[in-house]
Amino acid sequence: MTLPAPLFELRQVTQQFDRSLALRNITLQIFPGERVALVGSSGTGKSTLIQLLNGTLLPSQGEVWALGHSLSQGSSRQRRQVQRQIGTIYQQFHLVDTLPVIHNVNAGRLGQWSFFKAAVSLLYPLEVEAAAKALHRVGIPEKLYARTDQLSGGQQQRVAIARVLRQDPVAILADEPVSSLDPELSREVMALLRELVQEMGKTLVISLHSIELAQQYCDRIIGLRDGTILFDIPSFALSAERIRDLYRLREPG
Ligand SMILES: Nc1ncnc2c1ncn2[C@@H]1O[C@H](COP(=O)(O)OP(=O)(O)O)[C@@H](O)[C@H]1O
Ligand SMILES: [Mg+2]
Repeated sequence: MTLPAPLFELRQVTQQFDRSLALRNITLQIFPGERVALVGSSGTGKSTLIQLLNGTLLPSQGEVWALGHSLSQGSSRQRRQVQRQIGTIYQQFHLVDTLPVIHNVNAGRLGQWSFFKAAVSLLYPLEVEAAAKALHRVGIPEKLYARTDQLSGGQQQRVAIARVLRQDPVAILADEPVSSLDPELSREVMALLRELVQEMGKTLVISLHSIELAQQYCDRIIGLRDGTILFDIPSFALSAERIRDLYRLREPG
């Protein structure tokens, strides 16, 4: 039996910033259709890992592969092509607050649209029906023409998800997408994300502050501590002991 090719692969990746070593010698493969959670204390390298996976950051050492292409060694043109196939959702939504929702949803298409079409779309919304459909799927169809900053946090994160739906990427990355939301809204947004990726057969890599959400909504959990992988296990194998280890302070010396 041959395994499918990995959708993402890190080979001995180290990420050094000015004063900190964010990731140390990480080797990792993520396969199509997986739902992978990244967990660990803050400052352990979760966001750095997500930025490496979507090519916004190039590794100081090692190789990053996504969708069969090297992000660390390919041309920037090739990298942009791969990036179009990867959708990312952030904790702070990254929406243009002062624009109507429809523009933020259709921003998911900007990678495919010509400059002219993108410019025109700011004056006259284009592809209204497709935007409406995406908004319907995330449960807020009535907000199409609302100004984005009039929406609640939960609704804004739904807009960000609708934008990713419009992009229609192969993989969705999410960096603590529910950390600004209260517990109930967090579960709602997680349930929505899981339903969508499952339905569309996408791959999901998501960093989460909450271990409970990771266990409930993902199949595989990668625990990061001090920039290294402490464990990489199926969700059902997560034990209290592993969680203790994950948050244990580093011994001095
Ligand atoms: N752009 C950056 N410049 C300098 N240091 C950074 C940068 N991004 C992250 N770091 C550092 O790298 C480490 C890992 O950060 P990060 O990936 O944001 O962790 P997490 O998302 O798990 O909280 C931290 O020590 C952080 O201060
Ligand atoms: Mg982070």
